[in-house]
Amino acid sequence: MKAAHENWGSRLGFILATAGSAIGLGNIWKFPYVAGENGGAAFIIIYLGIVFTIGLSVMLAEIAIGRHAQTDAISAFRKIGKPGWTFVGVLGVVTAVIILSFYSVVAGWCIAYIVKSAGGAFSGMDAEAIGGAFGSFIGSPVAPIVYHGIFASLTMAVVIGGVAGGIEKASKFLMPMLFVILIALVARSVTLPGAAQGLEFFLAPDFSKISALTVMAALGQAFFSLSLGMAILLTFGSYVDRQTNLGKSAVQIVFLDTLVAILAGLAILPAVFALGMDPAAGPGLTFVTLPTVFNSMPGGYFFAIIFFVLLTIAALTSSVSVLEPVVAFFTNMGLSRKTATIGSGVIIFLLGIPSSLSVGIWNDIHFIKGQGFLDSASWLTDKLLLPIGGLLICIFAGWIIAPVMKREVSGDGAPGLLTRAWLLILRFIAPVAILLILLSGLEIIAF
Ligand code: PHE
Repeated sequence: MKAAHENWGSRLGFILATAGSAIGLGNIWKFPYVAGENGGAAFIIIYLGIVFTIGLSVMLAEIAIGRHAQTDAISAFRKIGKPGWTFVGVLGVVTAVIILSFYSVVAGWCIAYIVKSAGGAFSGMDAEAIGGAFGSFIGSPVAPIVYHGIFASLTMAVVIGGVAGGIEKASKFLMPMLFVILIALVARSVTLPGAAQGLEFFLAPDFSKISALTVMAALGQAFFSLSLGMAILLTFGSYVDRQTNLGKSAVQIVFLDTLVAILAGLAILPAVFALGMDPAAGPGLTFVTLPTVFNSMPGGYFFAIIFFVLLTIAALTSSVSVLEPVVAFFTNMGLSRKTATIGSGVIIFLLGIPSSLSVGIWNDIHFIKGQGFLDSASWLTDKLLLPIGGLLICIFAGWIIAPVMKREVSGDGAPGLLTRAWLLILRFIAPVAILLILLSGLEIIAF
């Protein structure tokens, strides 16, 4: 028998859970560096312009499709009466499975680093030694897979609890905690002697660095950061009740996501510069540069632990949102939530194993563009599947069911100026922008 479709317990719960999806490793380990490299405040201004127009519009479209359909991402298109578009839902769910498999491996490293920092594993080491320790940890065949398993189990534990009882409840506890930790880290970082240089790297506007390439970087970052282009927001939207104002909610979610990205820059860059290190993006920053910084920072032992707790929380609320569309589909097929969660969780865990081994004993096995399994999976989703998903969503919402979308967002009356602007972006501006991201990501065009 089909289970009744679930709902969020409150609007706040919906906002926090969706913000939890958006706020992830992308905000913390990528945004500060990308902003610093691409003109600081000048980049941030462009980024703000993009997230609050194109990003917001695509987000609103996905949520509105979901609320209208009131079902999982795969069944949604049939229910709306456009069964030919079902492949968009399938694409979203497949993308979710691939993303989660490697996201969970990297999140497992974050848990390992909570344990390592608490045990004083890096004390007294310099950057080179910490880099070596990181390489040998992620390259070892067993420990990272155990941590990946722990993280995948945490994700399953939240999702098993259901929409209101699991995802919403966890978000209401974890998101405030994330903010408290982040603010503590900002306070520590900006008060270090020499912090000003990092603030300058992050915030001083350098308009000479702005080019088409910068705009592309901002677009790509906005897309990934808002978790657009897959089945997540559609699924989360299907749990929203008819009274909720979708436009206002989407603005709040985008605001929270952007706020965390900026706070992360204020937490990380001043500390990195104050201790004379070079900033970088991604795993190198997180697992090598920052532990080195913590080593010589007053209170560093404590701040290292809470930093990795912060990353784990950010990753967990994102991974939960990636698993949910998969589970929602299987529960609609008649499986119980528990069976659906454990079944898909185990498959995702198994798929993550080659990702984990690909940065160790399998590092000479290459797939896409000479990259190992993990980098290939990341490339495939980031450069290909997410933009294609986003593009199809824009076309579907803006061209195929525009009247329904208009009603979903602004009710039965004549659409206001904002709704008309939204549709304009959805129909013309966003598809062109996404197409450019896609073509430049695939290196078909260069700027
Ligand atoms: N939005 C998340 C981040 O910024 C990552 C993510 C992307 C999560 C796609 C789910 C889907 O890190």
